[in-house]
Amino acid sequence: MAFDTVIANGTVVTATDTYAADVAIEAGKIVAIGRSLPRENAGRVIEAGGKYVFPGGIDVHTHLDMPFGGTITSDDFETGTRAALFGGTTTLIDFAIQYKGQSLRTAFDTWMQKAAPKATSDYSFHCIITDLPDAQLEEMPALVRDGVSSFKLFMAYPGVLMLDDGSIFKAFRSAAQTGAMICMHAENGGAIDVIVKQALAEGKTAPKYHALTRPTTAEAEATARAIALAEMAGAPVYIVHLSCNDALEKVREARDRGLPVYAETCPQYLYLSIENFDVPGFEGAKYVFTPPLREKWHQEKLWQGLRNDHLQVVSTDHCPFCYKEQKELGMGDFTKIPNGGPGIEHRMSLVYSGGVAQGRFSLNRFVELVATTPAKLFGLYPRKGTIAVGSDADLVIFDPKRQHTISAKTHHMRVDYSMFEGIKVTGMPDVVLSRGRVVVEGGRFLGRAGQGEFLKRATYAGL
Ligand code: URP
Ligand code: ZN
Ligand code: ZN
Repeated sequence: MAFDTVIANGTVVTATDTYAADVAIEAGKIVAIGRSLPRENAGRVIEAGGKYVFPGGIDVHTHLDMPFGGTITSDDFETGTRAALFGGTTTLIDFAIQYKGQSLRTAFDTWMQKAAPKATSDYSFHCIITDLPDAQLEEMPALVRDGVSSFKLFMAYPGVLMLDDGSIFKAFRSAAQTGAMICMHAENGGAIDVIVKQALAEGKTAPKYHALTRPTTAEAEATARAIALAEMAGAPVYIVHLSCNDALEKVREARDRGLPVYAETCPQYLYLSIENFDVPGFEGAKYVFTPPLREKWHQEKLWQGLRNDHLQVVSTDHCPFCYKEQKELGMGDFTKIPNGGPGIEHRMSLVYSGGVAQGRFSLNRFVELVATTPAKLFGLYPRKGTIAVGSDADLVIFDPKRQHTISAKTHHMRVDYSMFEGIKVTGMPDVVLSRGRVVVEGGRFLGRAGQGEFLKRATYAGL
């Protein structure tokens, strides 16, 4: 037997098991897992003694090459997927935006053109719906059939991205029929707008007022409303970028009632807080994203939520804008700061470090949060999200002892600052494989633009 590659002597970790085994790869797939697999004739043997072998990470919330806030996110599909691979994320689900008056198909085609020539990792899309007259409602099932089996709706940003409750309800009804998943940006946009206008009228223009004008209650109210609309329609719902305990409580209550309600949080809400705005001058703009940073005590509640399965996924909401010239668009008016922060590269290490290394949850729960549950919820499992015979050989050889201090000086994202500057993590990817190809090794990138494949996703089938 001659395998293309054998990963030898590692500790294989899935969402359920941890065991010593070799992993053999042929034609981009995992073909054997076992002790002492024959390696004499293998094209390549990668030694993984003392390391974990994880399934490649899946980040279901990124914004690459996205026009937003009067500018465009600074990572495109080449630089963004490359940074993701450095961090052990081998699959992304990005967002294709339907602008008002456009068909959903146009959104999909537009984002395919951005991604296909550039992506270095596999990718897929959710479709953001900003306008839902009957013609677009009727388009939803066709998109689902073509593998775009999830949609993001906004309850915030009135006049720009926000959908009214009637349209949201119609989208949930369509999803209930087709098996699509609705991803919800849950914040009460109408109330927030009133608070924002008042702050500006009072001369409160500094970056921190972005956070102070978006109360946790506005997130909790919209989360509860989204859950109610989904329940009435008989559909599941996935709450994106959940930031605070108030919203978490709404998710927990719904799940306790047995509803198919799921939620993600992001590393920024686990590691950063409103205190990050205590920096000189305009630098707080680096932390302007939505929902905003909260008081510090929310962090531990979110970690607990991850441990206890009240939260199911950690994504990044990677939405990078350079501080110079992009964030600076909002100098003198926080409402003009492009909303978003960079994080695609460090999700795996931040969650491993804070979760596993600090004893908050198990190795298996870590894999579940960053790879397996994202794959299951968004129609990629078992091709992605696990280590099993027949699955894609998207694998991360992870050194649990390696320490690293996150810095813009060393990261691979195309952005001039890091939200996590100076944070020390324990645990880093050493070697990353995408469909059997070594794409990161020894700190070097070995992939190429355009090698990433578009993934047609199946519909939601429960967890
Ligand atoms: O501030 C953020 N999160 N920007 C990206 C858009 C969104 O709402 O996810
Ligand atoms: Zn959002
Ligand atoms: Zn987002």
